[in-house]
Amino acid sequence: MLCDNIRRETDGKLSFAGQSVCALADRYGTPLYLMDEDRIRQNCRMYLSAFREHFGDGALPLYAGKAAAFRQMYRIMAEEGMGVDAVSPGEIATALSAGFPAERIYYHGDGKTDADIAFALDRGVGCFIVDNGNELVALNEAAAERGVKQKILLRITPGIDPHTYKAINTGAVDVKFGVPVETGQAMEFVRAALGMKQLSLAGLHCHVGSMVFDEDVFLRTAELMAGFMAEVRDELGVVFEELNLGGGYGVRYVDADPAADIPARIGEVAARLRTLFGENDLPLPRFLMEPGRSIVADAGMTVYTVCSVKRIPGYKSYVITDGGMTDNPRYCLYGAAYTVLHASRHGGLRAIFDLAGRCCESGDIIQPAISLPAGTTRGDRIAVCTTGAYNYAMASNYNRFPRPPVVMLRGGESYLAVRRETVEDVLALDL
Ligand code: LLP
Repeated sequence: MLCDNIRRETDGKLSFAGQSVCALADRYGTPLYLMDEDRIRQNCRMYLSAFREHFGDGALPLYAGKAAAFRQMYRIMAEEGMGVDAVSPGEIATALSAGFPAERIYYHGDGKTDADIAFALDRGVGCFIVDNGNELVALNEAAAERGVKQKILLRITPGIDPHTYKAINTGAVDVKFGVPVETGQAMEFVRAALGMKQLSLAGLHCHVGSMVFDEDVFLRTAELMAGFMAEVRDELGVVFEELNLGGGYGVRYVDADPAADIPARIGEVAARLRTLFGENDLPLPRFLMEPGRSIVADAGMTVYTVCSVKRIPGYKSYVITDGGMTDNPRYCLYGAAYTVLHASRHGGLRAIFDLAGRCCESGDIIQPAISLPAGTTRGDRIAVCTTGAYNYAMASNYNRFPRPPVVMLRGGESYLAVRRETVEDVLALDL
């Protein structure tokens, strides 16, 4: 199986995190997001122990909440001792309302408004990751009004192509994020930050992309950042305390995807950084990364009920579910691949179907050309694997469909973390 939390039992029924997928669908209804809490914690511990082993006690993985942000997730992150990367007041508010400590929140965003800046400053967010010069000035002024000195990192664009989907490539020179090294603007950005009285510049951040499998991407990024840090020391006499290499490790959506050995990759990055900083006679900075997908993706599964099966002879067949692009827009947006499984049957004759949703749009496909039992019929349950990242987080109310609940699975038990949205919830904002 794709991940060891997915099993086909001897009676042909699918189980996830040791629990019957069909029984969970009966109990909570569909469409349904399942999240394997034990797996999430295991993934956190994998990062925490690799960081400790290779970088020492100060190093901290920051969970990128954009992958899946709701209260219970932040409670888990607090309990596991993770930091958090937040990108909006909404994510910050969710984390704080879950009791997540403000000082362990790193606040991102390329378009922070005055209100956003005020919100985060007033809640004592630990660190701003400043994206650009406009933000630097606005943040300095807002901090001055409050008489506080705010810790910041600067987001630098290293100019590295991580060989991933274009829409999620963020490290190249001409992307909308950060300030590029290549054009000389990054050095000016650092100089400007050092001149800001209310800001305390702790170091640099970069993020080259998401779904990165190329083993040398983080090594090349480390080299570029270490080289730039040495230039900053030579030119401006500043030695940074922190280096944040962002998120991006890829996960397996289908059997053909490689399995990234993340602890091994982190070990290689550590070894390279030690060498580079040693050669430049610089102390190794406190190391941070921002994993999102690799913490939660394989902890997720979405369960649907089949509404109809349509066969168009000579063309194709569809299995139409009670979900769709509203709960998983990733195939529509990125052509993303998924593993799709029938939840109650496995053997027998199989056929090829497009798995579609019920939105009023022909592009509403969850996954094309998947193999399912030929007799798949209305009322059957279908599971889509590895949906823990960027599914609930990117769900919408298109066509006024309420969003599914999130049910957590822990040690053989299940509980609701986010309740099912109702049509009344959707209507609540209409005047
Ligand atoms: N840090 C920064 C600054 C980021 O922009 C991202 C992702 C991460 C960390 C986390 O990256 P991860 O470890 O999850 O790859 N919606 C797209 C993914 C967009 C990722 C955006 N930034 C998708 O569904 O594939």
